[in-house]
Amino acid sequence: MTSQDALDQLAAAIRACRKCPLGRLRTHAVPGEGPVHAEIMFIGEAPGYYEDRQGRPFVGASGKLLEKLLADIGFTREDVYITNVVKCRPPANRDPLPSEIETCAPWLHRQIALIDPLLIITLGRFSMAQFFPPSARITRVHGQPLMQEDRIIIPMFHPAAALRNPNWMQAMEADFAQIPALLAAMRVKRAARDQDASPPQQLSLF
Ligand code: URA
Repeated sequence: MTSQDALDQLAAAIRACRKCPLGRLRTHAVPGEGPVHAEIMFIGEAPGYYEDRQGRPFVGASGKLLEKLLADIGFTREDVYITNVVKCRPPANRDPLPSEIETCAPWLHRQIALIDPLLIITLGRFSMAQFFPPSARITRVHGQPLMQEDRIIIPMFHPAAALRNPNWMQAMEADFAQIPALLAAMRVKRAARDQDASPPQQLSLF
Protein backbone atom coordinates (compact mmCIF):
# COMPACT_ATOMS: atom_id res chain seq x y z
CA MET A 1 0.00 0.00 0.00
CA THR A 2 1.36 3.46 -0.87
CA SER A 3 1.50 6.28 1.68
CA GLN A 4 -1.23 8.02 -0.33
CA ASP A 5 -3.48 4.94 -0.01
CA ALA A 6 -2.80 4.84 3.72
CA LEU A 7 -3.66 8.54 4.09
CA ASP A 8 -6.85 8.08 2.03
CA GLN A 9 -7.86 5.11 4.22
CA LEU A 10 -7.22 7.18 7.32
CA ALA A 11 -9.39 10.02 5.94
CA ALA A 12 -12.18 7.52 5.20
CA ALA A 13 -11.98 6.17 8.76
CA ILE A 14 -12.14 9.73 10.15
CA ARG A 15 -15.21 10.49 7.99
CA ALA A 16 -16.93 7.39 9.42
CA CYS A 17 -15.88 8.05 13.04
CA ARG A 18 -18.57 8.14 15.73
CA LYS A 19 -16.30 7.82 18.73
CA CYS A 20 -17.53 10.99 20.40
CA PRO A 21 -20.83 12.93 20.36
CA LEU A 22 -19.50 15.42 17.78
CA GLY A 23 -19.73 12.63 15.22
CA ARG A 24 -23.54 12.81 15.42
CA LEU A 25 -23.72 16.61 15.31
CA ARG A 26 -21.49 17.33 12.33
CA THR A 27 -22.48 17.81 8.69
CA HIS A 28 -19.08 16.59 7.49
CA ALA A 29 -16.00 15.42 9.33
CA VAL A 30 -12.91 17.33 8.20
CA PRO A 31 -9.91 14.98 8.06
CA GLY A 32 -7.53 17.51 6.50
CA GLU A 33 -5.97 18.04 3.09
CA GLY A 34 -2.64 18.40 1.37
CA PRO A 35 0.14 16.31 -0.16
CA VAL A 36 1.06 13.09 1.61
CA HIS A 37 4.72 14.11 1.49
CA ALA A 38 4.11 17.70 2.65
CA GLU A 39 7.12 19.20 4.39
CA ILE A 40 4.95 21.53 6.45
CA MET A 41 1.87 20.59 8.43
CA PHE A 42 -0.49 23.15 9.99
CA ILE A 43 -2.67 22.01 12.86
CA GLY A 44 -5.65 24.15 13.86
CA GLU A 45 -8.27 23.65 16.54
CA ALA A 46 -11.50 22.27 15.05
CA PRO A 47 -13.68 22.87 11.98
CA GLY A 48 -15.96 25.91 12.05
CA TYR A 49 -19.25 26.53 10.22
CA TYR A 50 -17.88 26.62 6.66
CA GLU A 51 -15.46 23.74 7.20
CA ASP A 52 -18.33 21.61 8.53
CA ARG A 53 -20.43 22.45 5.45
CA GLN A 54 -17.64 21.71 2.96
CA GLY A 55 -15.65 18.97 4.72
CA ARG A 56 -12.45 20.96 4.14
CA PRO A 57 -10.17 22.67 6.68
CA PHE A 58 -9.65 26.44 6.92
CA VAL A 59 -12.02 27.60 4.17
CA GLY A 60 -13.45 30.62 6.06
CA ALA A 61 -11.87 33.90 7.16
CA SER A 62 -9.07 32.15 9.08
CA GLY A 63 -8.26 30.15 5.96
CA LYS A 64 -8.04 33.31 3.84
CA LEU A 65 -5.50 34.73 6.31
CA LEU A 66 -3.56 31.47 6.36
CA GLU A 67 -3.37 31.58 2.54
CA LYS A 68 -2.16 35.19 2.61
CA LEU A 69 0.53 34.43 5.21
CA LEU A 70 1.64 31.46 3.12
CA ALA A 71 1.77 33.59 -0.04
CA ASP A 72 3.97 36.13 1.79
CA ILE A 73 6.63 33.42 2.18
CA GLY A 74 6.19 31.95 -1.30
CA PHE A 75 3.87 29.01 -0.58
CA THR A 76 0.32 28.08 -1.51
CA ARG A 77 -2.09 26.01 0.54
CA GLU A 78 -1.59 23.15 -1.93
CA ASP A 79 2.07 22.93 -0.80
CA VAL A 80 1.24 22.13 2.82
CA TYR A 81 -0.91 19.72 4.81
CA ILE A 82 -3.67 21.42 6.81
CA THR A 83 -5.66 19.70 9.54
CA ASN A 84 -7.09 20.18 13.04
CA VAL A 85 -6.79 18.54 16.44
CA VAL A 86 -10.52 17.81 16.46
CA LYS A 87 -12.00 16.66 13.15
CA CYS A 88 -15.68 17.52 13.73
CA ARG A 89 -17.22 20.92 14.46
CA PRO A 90 -18.14 21.58 18.09
CA PRO A 91 -21.67 23.08 18.23
CA ALA A 92 -21.74 26.90 17.91
CA ASN A 93 -17.93 26.82 17.60
CA ARG A 94 -17.47 26.25 21.32
CA ASP A 95 -14.04 25.13 22.53
CA PRO A 96 -13.49 21.40 22.11
CA LEU A 97 -13.89 19.49 25.38
CA PRO A 98 -10.92 17.63 26.87
CA SER A 99 -12.74 14.34 26.27
CA GLU A 100 -13.30 15.23 22.57
CA ILE A 101 -9.63 16.15 22.14
CA GLU A 102 -8.51 12.95 23.84
CA THR A 103 -10.78 10.82 21.66
CA CYS A 104 -9.81 12.57 18.41
CA ALA A 105 -6.06 13.15 18.90
CA PRO A 106 -4.99 9.62 17.83
CA TRP A 107 -6.22 10.44 14.30
CA LEU A 108 -3.90 13.45 14.25
CA HIS A 109 -0.94 11.46 15.48
CA ARG A 110 -1.51 8.82 12.80
CA GLN A 111 -1.57 11.59 10.19
CA ILE A 112 1.71 12.97 11.54
CA ALA A 113 3.32 9.52 11.45
CA LEU A 114 2.26 9.01 7.82
CA ILE A 115 3.08 12.47 6.46
CA ASP A 116 6.23 12.78 8.57
CA PRO A 117 6.51 16.56 8.04
CA LEU A 118 9.71 18.52 8.65
CA LEU A 119 7.83 21.36 10.32
CA ILE A 120 4.65 21.24 12.35
CA ILE A 121 3.01 24.59 12.95
CA THR A 122 0.43 24.62 15.68
CA LEU A 123 -2.26 27.28 15.36
CA GLY A 124 -3.75 28.24 18.70
CA ARG A 125 -3.58 26.83 22.19
CA PHE A 126 -5.45 23.54 21.70
CA SER A 127 -3.06 22.48 18.98
CA MET A 128 -0.04 23.74 20.94
CA ALA A 129 -1.15 21.62 23.91
CA GLN A 130 -0.55 18.46 21.86
CA PHE A 131 3.20 19.15 21.95
CA PHE A 132 3.91 21.60 24.78
CA PRO A 133 3.44 21.31 28.54
CA PRO A 134 0.22 22.68 30.05
CA SER A 135 2.22 25.55 31.58
CA ALA A 136 3.16 26.89 28.10
CA ARG A 137 1.43 30.17 27.27
CA ILE A 138 1.02 31.03 23.60
CA THR A 139 1.67 34.74 24.23
CA ARG A 140 5.13 33.76 25.54
CA VAL A 141 6.21 30.83 23.38
CA HIS A 142 4.74 31.69 19.96
CA GLY A 143 7.40 31.60 17.26
CA GLN A 144 9.90 29.71 19.42
CA PRO A 145 10.78 26.49 17.60
CA LEU A 146 10.84 23.28 19.59
CA MET A 147 13.58 21.18 18.04
CA GLN A 148 12.85 17.48 18.03
CA GLU A 149 14.98 14.71 16.61
CA ASP A 150 13.16 14.51 13.29
CA ARG A 151 11.19 17.72 13.06
CA ILE A 152 10.59 21.19 14.39
CA ILE A 153 7.36 22.24 16.08
CA ILE A 154 6.56 25.96 15.94
CA PRO A 155 3.68 27.26 18.05
CA MET A 156 1.78 30.19 16.53
CA PHE A 157 -1.34 32.19 17.26
CA HIS A 158 -4.57 31.00 15.72
CA PRO A 159 -5.43 33.08 12.59
CA ALA A 160 -8.82 33.96 14.16
CA ALA A 161 -6.95 35.52 17.11
CA ALA A 162 -4.67 37.47 14.74
CA LEU A 163 -7.75 38.76 12.89
CA ARG A 164 -9.04 40.14 16.20
CA ASN A 165 -5.80 41.67 17.49
CA PRO A 166 -3.37 43.73 15.35
CA ASN A 167 -0.45 42.98 17.72
CA TRP A 168 -0.95 39.28 17.26
CA MET A 169 -1.25 39.78 13.52
CA GLN A 170 2.20 41.40 13.53
CA ALA A 171 3.54 38.59 15.69
CA MET A 172 2.09 36.01 13.34
CA GLU A 173 3.68 37.67 10.31
CA ALA A 174 7.06 37.67 12.07
CA ASP A 175 6.61 34.02 13.09
CA PHE A 176 5.75 33.04 9.52
CA ALA A 177 8.83 34.88 8.23
CA GLN A 178 10.98 32.33 10.11
CA ILE A 179 9.48 29.37 8.27
CA PRO A 180 11.73 29.31 5.15
CA ALA A 181 15.00 29.29 7.15
CA LEU A 182 13.75 26.66 9.60
CA LEU A 183 12.57 24.51 6.71
CA ALA A 184 15.94 24.81 4.96
CA ALA A 185 17.77 23.81 8.16
CA MET A 186 15.49 20.84 8.69
CA ARG A 187 15.90 19.69 5.07
CA VAL A 188 19.67 19.50 5.63
CA LYS A 189 19.22 17.59 8.90
CA ARG A 190 16.76 15.13 7.36
CA ALA A 191 19.00 14.55 4.31
CA ALA A 192 21.88 13.67 6.66
CA ARG A 193 19.64 11.27 8.57
CA ASP A 194 18.40 9.60 5.39
CA GLN A 195 21.96 9.23 4.14
CA ASP A 196 23.04 7.60 7.43
CA ALA A 197 20.12 5.21 7.13
CA SER A 198 20.85 4.20 3.53
CA PRO A 199 22.82 0.96 2.95
CA PRO A 200 26.59 1.49 2.54
CA GLN A 201 27.65 1.99 -1.07
CA GLN A 202 29.97 -0.71 -2.37
CA LEU A 203 33.43 0.82 -2.87
CA SER A 204 34.55 0.74 -6.44
CA LEU A 205 37.80 -1.17 -6.95
CA PHE A 206 38.89 1.18 -9.72
N1 URA B 1 -10.42 27.19 12.67
C1 URA B 1 -9.75 26.05 12.90
O1 URA B 1 -9.10 25.88 13.93
N2 URA B 1 -9.79 25.11 11.96
C2 URA B 1 -10.45 25.23 10.82
O2 URA B 1 -10.43 24.32 10.02
C3 URA B 1 -11.14 26.45 10.61
C4 URA B 1 -11.11 27.40 11.54
